[in-house]
Amino acid sequence: MIEKDNYSLLSHNTFGIAASARHFITYDSVADLQAVVAHVRTDYADEPVLHIGGGSNLLFLSDFNGVVLHSAIKGIERINEGECGRLRVGAAVVWDDFVAYCVEHGFHGVENLSLIPGDVGASAVQNIGAYGAEVKDVIAEVETVDLHEGTVRVFPVSECGYGYRQSVFKSTLRGRYAVTHVLFKLSREFRPDLDYGGVREALRHSGIRPEAVTAEELRRTIIDIRKAKLPDPTRQGNAGSFFMNPVVEHGEYERLKADYSTMPHYDMGHGGVKIPAGWLIEQCGWKGRALGRAAVHDRQALVLVNRGGATGKDILDLCEAVRTDVLKKFGIAIQPEVNFIGTAS
Ligand code: EPU
Repeated sequence: MIEKDNYSLLSHNTFGIAASARHFITYDSVADLQAVVAHVRTDYADEPVLHIGGGSNLLFLSDFNGVVLHSAIKGIERINEGECGRLRVGAAVVWDDFVAYCVEHGFHGVENLSLIPGDVGASAVQNIGAYGAEVKDVIAEVETVDLHEGTVRVFPVSECGYGYRQSVFKSTLRGRYAVTHVLFKLSREFRPDLDYGGVREALRHSGIRPEAVTAEELRRTIIDIRKAKLPDPTRQGNAGSFFMNPVVEHGEYERLKADYSTMPHYDMGHGGVKIPAGWLIEQCGWKGRALGRAAVHDRQALVLVNRGGATGKDILDLCEAVRTDVLKKFGIAIQPEVNFIGTAS
């Protein structure tokens, strides 16, 4: 374990917010994490504990006056070969490095999730999703350490409580378990999912016949779509989608549809109707608009960006202004997807 005090978190949050941690501890194995848990329980018993991954879904509203834990558990291990390829992956492996490995070695099912920022551990907490795919569909088990007891607990996918950008790790069991490894079940056969609006068109646009697409070509196409729409966090601080897409009841959808006939929507059957928050925000005139040092991205209104030197409070003020306008215009309370840490002064 490596411990540093009064440690800058600037390079640990893709929003690029200047915040610091009173204690920052990195560990690189399950046994090491268990030792960290014992150390924190003994020496920092009264301090709050926060586990972070790649920091691509965090907004620091203040310094963190407690212990920040950070995994350095790497490695991709082949569990068995055959029809269903199983890979056991360390939580600190960069998500997109894992996708690149899969595509290169013929493990399929994650191509549509290419270029999502963050690491493998966070992917299982957040249930990352894009272009019609969600990581929950390729997860077999999530291995964790209990941050109270130091014991190992393995969650079969059925016990992870997965839903749209949701899991037990970010709801009922929030803060209790640190993910150490994820066991993925991948297909050795490439069966591309091209049904999400835009993917087929983008393939044709690049001169690729959708029926003949390869895994490499699909990955490259998804990367190109993302690069065209989403800001690169290494150039402009952001945390991807800032808000979740709201799901409304069918009656509510009908009411909105009567006024806004062109409103994009996705019918989830009995689960209601999902409406893109990006569209709602754009309709309120916020796309590309700034408020101080924070702005709504000009190509995807679901993303808030740091224009340079923004504080967590700057981003929060913009978030609230956007939410207020969407509520006023559409009667829908959109919810942030990003996790707020600390409190704004
Ligand atoms: N739209 C607008 N204006 C905008 C943005 C979107 O009108 O500024 C409309 C689009 O025209 C389209 C619809 O909204 O009709 C959906 O847009 P898009 O395909 O860009 O997807 P999204 O629903 O806005 C979600 C995920 C993204 C993911 C994309 C692609 C959430 C919160 N976000 O965005 O995830 O990449 O689908 O599948 O579900 C992330 O989580 O960080 C993220 C980027």
